[in-house]
Amino acid sequence: MIDTHTHINTVPLLSDIDNIVSRANKNNVLHMIAVGMNKKANQQGILLSEKYPCIYAAIGLHPSDVNDEQLDIEQLEQQAKHNKVVAIGEIGIDLYWVKDNFVLQKEVFIKQIELALSVDLPVIIHSRNSANEIYDIVENYPSLRGVMHCYSENVELLDKFIDLGFYIGVGGIVTFKNAKEVIEIAKKTPLDRLLVETDAPYLAPVPYRGKTNEPAYTAYTLSKLAEIRGLTIAEMDRITTDNTVRLFTKMNIQKQTSL
Ligand code: NI
Repeated sequence: MIDTHTHINTVPLLSDIDNIVSRANKNNVLHMIAVGMNKKANQQGILLSEKYPCIYAAIGLHPSDVNDEQLDIEQLEQQAKHNKVVAIGEIGIDLYWVKDNFVLQKEVFIKQIELALSVDLPVIIHSRNSANEIYDIVENYPSLRGVMHCYSENVELLDKFIDLGFYIGVGGIVTFKNAKEVIEIAKKTPLDRLLVETDAPYLAPVPYRGKTNEPAYTAYTLSKLAEIRGLTIAEMDRITTDNTVRLFTKMNIQKQTSL
């Protein structure tokens, strides 16, 4: 299995990183992408990717960090050349926490999309109360590839993101009893567009709901996804692993035979 979206590059997971990585590997999570949000997390993700063969990094400025940090596109461009930096992210728009800086969020998002295109990397997109705004931007970039991470809004827009070529990241919410919309999304997304992720330390799947999430719990989400689609866990693992390798072309890993 591959955890395509985890924040092991920040506390609390970073403080216990050796154990986090070894528990993940013991639970058959053989690769993971440490997703950045700001300079500190980006740098830390790269350091982890240099220390652990199973860790890859994504770098970017998160929409919730644009008020605290200026976008340094030159630095991101430099870091993007690193052989284990596989994506620009997470980037996007978040109109849940802060709405009044929409113009700035949009500007930072667009600059990072253009960076991703220039360095030929996929994007990892964060969307909260902003699927329409994001769609209006990304539809202008037909060669952009990427994933709508932990996508949990607007089932109607799902088809349009799929038509643009986007992948859909499914996280622990799909295991929650009341997660009608995310279950619907997991049902409707074409099999060749599904990715599995934890977004750890957030959004732990059942039976760890409410606790600190970690990459080792990827299997709970994967097995729920398999159940929803009427497949075996091994089949769903193969499908989502193939999808991950197809999207994150720099991961360059052997096809897994886990599970
Ligand atoms: Ni995240």
